[in-house]
Amino acid sequence: MGLRFTLAITGASGSAFGVAVLRRMSASPAVDSVALLLSPTGKRCLLDETGLTPKDLAALPKVGLRDERDLGADISSGSYRHDGMVILPCSAGALGRIAAGVSESLVSRAADVCLKERRPLVLCLRETPLNRIHLENMLRVHDAGAVVMPIMPGYYSGQKELADLFDTFATRVLDQLGLREDDPRRWKA
Ligand SMILES: Cc1cc2nc3c(=O)[nH]c(=O)nc-3n(C[C@H](O)[C@H](O)[C@H](O)COP(=O)(O)O)c2cc1C
Repeated sequence: MGLRFTLAITGASGSAFGVAVLRRMSASPAVDSVALLLSPTGKRCLLDETGLTPKDLAALPKVGLRDERDLGADISSGSYRHDGMVILPCSAGALGRIAAGVSESLVSRAADVCLKERRPLVLCLRETPLNRIHLENMLRVHDAGAVVMPIMPGYYSGQKELADLFDTFATRVLDQLGLREDDPRRWKA
């Protein structure tokens, strides 16, 4: 059986980074399926910043859209086997709910399940500047087992276009999920 991932887009700037990861997962022969979910503000930011709708993303091969209000969805249960979840972009609100164990939506519930089942959970926070609450919440989720990976692409690979930056960061996110792909943009000493 191939890999199964969950990708959530929440209401922060930078949804194009999430789309880049989703496209790479969808195109990877190692991946069987991707459960995709978007918060209401995530949908709005996606449309504003990329012109895409959830339906457009769900049309990618292997991608299955989940209703973020459906707490009975497969990814809401620890018995659903998968290989990790990424929230990209992750709003400060989503971070706070996960840090506090508030599982009122499918995004925060699926993340909570990852932590309790000790599955990879990558939170790509997008907020700046950071207040004390954000910083404390990052430490809380880190200590609970999540990888805190703010949207900070490297700039050392001669990227010319924004799409290159999105993909540079996507490679690093996929690394965290155990999907190691060849990428000429990796650092070469
Ligand atoms: C257009 C727009 C852009 C936003 N950008 C950010 C952002 O970059 N980072 C952030 O933490 N919150 C941002 N917010 C606020 C969050 O969307 C808001 O706190 C929301 O409740 C987060 O909930 P969600 O995680 O369920 O999407 C933005 C809101 C809007 C409407």
